[in-house]
Amino acid sequence: MRNVLCVINVADKMKEPFNPFVINTYQGKEYFCDRENDLEMLISHIENDRNVVLYAWRRLGKSALIHRLFDELESSQNYETLYIDLLATQNIDEAIQTISAAIYQKYGKTSGGISASIQKLLASIGATISFNPISGTPELTLGVNKSEQPRQSLAALGEFLLSRKKRIVIAIDEFQQINDYEGEKAEAVFRAWVQQIPEVRFIFSGSHRTLMEDMFTEKKRPFYQSSMLESLQPISLEAYTEFIIQHFQAAKKTIEAESIAKIYTWSRGQTYTVQLVCNHLFSNYKKVTNADVDTVFNQILVQQQAIYANFQKMLTRTQWNVFRAIAKEEPLQNPLSKDFLQKHKLGAASTVSTALKALERLELVIKDEGNYLVHEVQLARWMARL
Ligand SMILES: Nc1ncnc2c1ncn2[C@@H]1O[C@H](COP(=O)(O)OP(=O)(O)OP(=O)(O)O)[C@@H](O)[C@H]1O
Ligand SMILES: [Mg+2]
Repeated sequence: MRNVLCVINVADKMKEPFNPFVINTYQGKEYFCDRENDLEMLISHIENDRNVVLYAWRRLGKSALIHRLFDELESSQNYETLYIDLLATQNIDEAIQTISAAIYQKYGKTSGGISASIQKLLASIGATISFNPISGTPELTLGVNKSEQPRQSLAALGEFLLSRKKRIVIAIDEFQQINDYEGEKAEAVFRAWVQQIPEVRFIFSGSHRTLMEDMFTEKKRPFYQSSMLESLQPISLEAYTEFIIQHFQAAKKTIEAESIAKIYTWSRGQTYTVQLVCNHLFSNYKKVTNADVDTVFNQILVQQQAIYANFQKMLTRTQWNVFRAIAKEEPLQNPLSKDFLQKHKLGAASTVSTALKALERLELVIKDEGNYLVHEVQLARWMARL
C-alpha cells in the first residue's frame, strides 16, 4: 500500500469576490440566492437527529447549499461542522486521510502549536503532520500499512468527535465515490461508523444522482432507509430574478426581468449556468439587452467547444447520433417513436434503445419527469446547433 499524502487547506477566510455572480464556490450569504426553504428543511432534520441524503442533477448547488448551511450552524454557536469531499479519493485509506485532514484543520491548531489531543489521535491512526519545506503548508501523511484496519481508524476519529462539547455535523460530499473503492466493502464500513457515533449528524451528498439514490433505496445495501432523502430542485425564477436585479442595481447596472427569464430557460434553471451567464453579463455590460444575452450564450459555447468535441470521440457513432438528436428535440418523451427515429435517421429502435441505455448509465442523458434530456445543459445547447 502506498503512502497517501494530503495537503491541508490553510486558507479558510472568505475573500470578497470581484464579481457578485460567483461560479466557483460558496462566498457567503450575500452572494447566495434564496434556498431558504431548503435551508430550513436541512436545519429541521439536523435539529431532530435525522441524517440526510442531498441529491440532485449536476450543478444545481448541492455543495454550495451545504456551505451555506454550515455557515448558519457555525454562527448559531451550537454546532461544529466538518465538510469532507471524497471526489479525489480512490480507496478507503484516502477517505480516512481526508477525514483526518478535515479534523486536523478544524481542531489541530491551538495558540500553543499543534493540539496535543489531535497529535495523539493522528498517531493512533498512523498519520503524521509535516510541513512542506518550501511552501510551509502542513501536509498529512498516512503511513504504510497503518490503516489496515479502517474500522479502528474510523472508530478513533469518531471517539474524538464524540468528546467535543458541541454537536457535530459532518457533510460527506461526492459520497457515491465509495462505490469505486476496491477491496474493502466501504459502504458497510461507513455504515458501521455512522451507527457507532449516533450523536453525530451526517449529510451525504453526491453529484451522481442515480448512484446516490441506489445506495439509499436498494434493500440489500447497507445504507438502505438510513437517512432522509431530499432531492434539490432548481431555484425558482422569481427568486433568481430578484437576486440578479438586486446585484445589478447595486453596481448601477440594469437587466430586465425578460432577459433573466431567457437566461433561466436556456439554463434549464441550472444554478451554475445561470451564474455563469450572469457573471459574464455583469462584467461586460452596463445595460443588458436581449442581444447581449445571446452574445454571452454564444461566447460560453465557443469557449467549451474543444471539450464538447471530445464527446464525439468518446461515444460510438449510434450513441453520438442519439445523443445529438435528444439535444435537438428535448424535452423528448418517446425516443423510440417512429417520428423521432426517422427524422434523425437513427435506424432500428433496438439499436437506439441499447445506445440510450449506455447514455443513461453514463448519466449523459437523464430522464426527468418522463422526459429525456441531455444532462449537461450547455452541452445540450451546443449540440442542438450542430
Ligand atoms: N443559491 C446559490 N446562489 C448563487 N450561486 C450558487 C447557489 N448555489 C450554487 N451556486 C453556485 O453555482 C455553482 C454550482 O454549485 P455547486 O458546486 O454547489 O453545485 P453542485 O450541485 O454541488 O455541483 P456538482 O454536481 O458538480 O457537485 C457554484 O459556482 C456555486 O457557487
Ligand atoms: Mg458538488
